[in-house]
Amino acid sequence: MTLIVGSQFGDEGKGKFVDLLAEKNDLVVRFQGGNNAGHTVVVKDKKYKFHLIPSGAIRGKQILIGAGVVIDPKVLLEEISTLKKEGITPKLTVDPRAHIIMPYHKLMDVGKEEALKEGMIGTTRRGIGPCYATKALRHGIRFIDLVHEEKLRELISINYAFFAPMLEKCFGKKLDSSEEELFQEFASLGRELKQYLGDVAVEANNALNEKKNVLLEGAQGALLDIDFGTYPFVTSSHPIAGSACTGIGLSPKKINKILGVVKAYTTRVGAGPFPTEIKDEKADHLRGKGKEYGTTTGRPRRIGWLDFPLLRYVNRISGFDELIITKLDVLSGLEEIFVADSYSFEGKKLNEFPAIIDQLTKVKPNYTKLKGFVLEEKEKNELKKNGFKALPSEAKDYLEFIESRLNVPVKYVSYGSERSETIVK
Ligand code: IMP
Ligand code: MG
Repeated sequence: MTLIVGSQFGDEGKGKFVDLLAEKNDLVVRFQGGNNAGHTVVVKDKKYKFHLIPSGAIRGKQILIGAGVVIDPKVLLEEISTLKKEGITPKLTVDPRAHIIMPYHKLMDVGKEEALKEGMIGTTRRGIGPCYATKALRHGIRFIDLVHEEKLRELISINYAFFAPMLEKCFGKKLDSSEEELFQEFASLGRELKQYLGDVAVEANNALNEKKNVLLEGAQGALLDIDFGTYPFVTSSHPIAGSACTGIGLSPKKINKILGVVKAYTTRVGAGPFPTEIKDEKADHLRGKGKEYGTTTGRPRRIGWLDFPLLRYVNRISGFDELIITKLDVLSGLEEIFVADSYSFEGKKLNEFPAIIDQLTKVKPNYTKLKGFVLEEKEKNELKKNGFKALPSEAKDYLEFIESRLNVPVKYVSYGSERSETIVK
């Protein structure tokens, strides 16, 4: 069983690799997050964007959504319908324990963001945080509740009484639907989605017992983890490796390989500290070349250099066996490439990624300068023919530098969005 997780702030290019590796896997399972994620998969000249459905879907694999995911039922139905239009009938199972994002969650997400103004987190406004919060409050609506009308009615009543006055008093927001309308709407969604209900923990464990190959698909990135990320500028789930076990219902002993996806530079969408952020025109250049705009919200992503204090911290938490380096081609044409080897804080060298956000906002990266390389059409064609050995020597040096700093081998390198634009080492 292989696990893929993002090692930065999300958008590392996990979607492409889940799709690639799905070929040799029987099941693809998501375990955290919701439709705040945006996974882009490019097949020939077609671009698929998924927010909720595992990216293994277009290979026609069995796809599972585990208990740790939060589900917007309408988004789920839309994605199922998009797949069907492509001639793919998804073999989908959704765990009964997964929590449902309700309209009051979305309204609260928007209300909170608006109220915070300058202190805004910059969420995707999909209701993710309020949904996980309701789960922790223990009056959330789970997937199973959508198909039990009595229970659904009772829970909607509890939540309506809880959220409606809060939305109105705190944020001046009013729900579009009455309690009864909400019930009717979600009971109807439940009837449509009932066919996908199944115990994902049982299915995943059974598949392993039958020696099937299982791929676990992380969403977001480690620095958005609610505990280990740059709190409060984080998402509400756990994008770190350990979360795959709790989000599906698997023993940690079952995971054989953990792949960390590292983009060749760093991006962040939304607010929060970003030590290696580039503030000059190089950021615009890389944003343009890397098409760094949010898949879910279309927002321009902030751009920065590769950050080793950050990556060492994440590697310590998630324990990567191999690295996937993505978007190497985006760095093409730069004369020199900077990487942060360590930080300085108040004049002293800092070896550890600080746990305290106030420190993190004040650190100064100590940069090492590496030579740039060219990776354009001509070089890409060489790479397609001859693989790794055709890589410009400075690009090889860059990869070796990453390996040496993290002490983890690079297994895959992506130099374009197409499946074929991939080096397997
Ligand atoms: P939320 O997950 O919508 O609550 O947003 C919280 C923070 O996580 C914001 O900074 C978002 O931009 C960020 N975020 C959430 N999902 C993703 C993702 O899939 N990629 C990148 N950033 C994300
Ligand atoms: Mg994304």
